[in-house]
Amino acid sequence: MVACTLFSPPLELSLRVGNSSGVENVRKKTKTNKFMTKTYPYISYSKESYSEEEMLKRSQSFLEWMDKRRTVRDFSDKPISKEVIENILLTASTAPSGAHKQPWTFCVITNPELKKQIRAAAEKEEYDSYNVRMTKEWLEDLAPLGTDWQKPFLEIAPALIIVFKRAYEFVGDTKKNNYYVTESVGLAGGFLLAAIHNAGLVALTHTPSPMNFLSKLLNRPDNERPFLLIPVGYPLKEVQVPDLQRKSIGEIAEFYE
Ligand SMILES: Cc1cc2nc3c(=O)[nH]c(=O)nc-3n(C[C@H](O)[C@H](O)[C@H](O)COP(=O)(O)O)c2cc1C
Repeated sequence: MVACTLFSPPLELSLRVGNSSGVENVRKKTKTNKFMTKTYPYISYSKESYSEEEMLKRSQSFLEWMDKRRTVRDFSDKPISKEVIENILLTASTAPSGAHKQPWTFCVITNPELKKQIRAAAEKEEYDSYNVRMTKEWLEDLAPLGTDWQKPFLEIAPALIIVFKRAYEFVGDTKKNNYYVTESVGLAGGFLLAAIHNAGLVALTHTPSPMNFLSKLLNRPDNERPFLLIPVGYPLKEVQVPDLQRKSIGEIAEFYE
């Protein structure tokens, strides 16, 4: 562990980083600001790198594997272990976050009575959404997915992971800011879905609107806002998903060379 005093005048920090030809020392200048009055610990970090050929192979096979992830809406009620869920949540929590505030709380609901209450409340909102709130354009966009106001998966899936974003924190009586909360929690949600896929399970990213009923039912504090409701479990046997096409590289990227 390297102790680094971040205090004016700027000082040079020696970091050990790995590259394909081994580990070398790189000198890196750190910037300081007027609040950097303490000493903060640093640790060495190394990252395995690969030959061009190996990199191409790995990026291709990861793409193929991630492309197999699909949103599933028909679940089996087969239970999943708490340890697996904990690992999935800890993986989500490795996501980067603004000022490393990790502004998320994951509530895991396996209690059948609570799942039933969540389904009833979600269906009430979704009934209004599908029948009153959603525009014609929105309903047309949803048509290929075959969704409607009924949400049986909220009772059938063995676990519901509800992701809350933490708008701010209380440390004692002091209100402390979180930064880039929506971006951070969105990234954690992506990591969460990848971890579920990696475990051999399936998920549905569900956003009943509005979602305030979740704060009430789960008795969450004022600084938390519901963000995503993610049923997770095994798919029903012989499940079907919409035949969707993903955009091509030309449609999603611009290269400035
Ligand atoms: C922010 C967000 C909200 C979503 N909300 C819902 C939802 O409320 N109900 C639903 O059935 N699917 C929902 N989805 C899932 C999308 O419909 C799905 O990801 C999309 O159709 C692509 O399919 P795929 O996930 O199988 O690739 C949502 C996805 C995202 C990212």
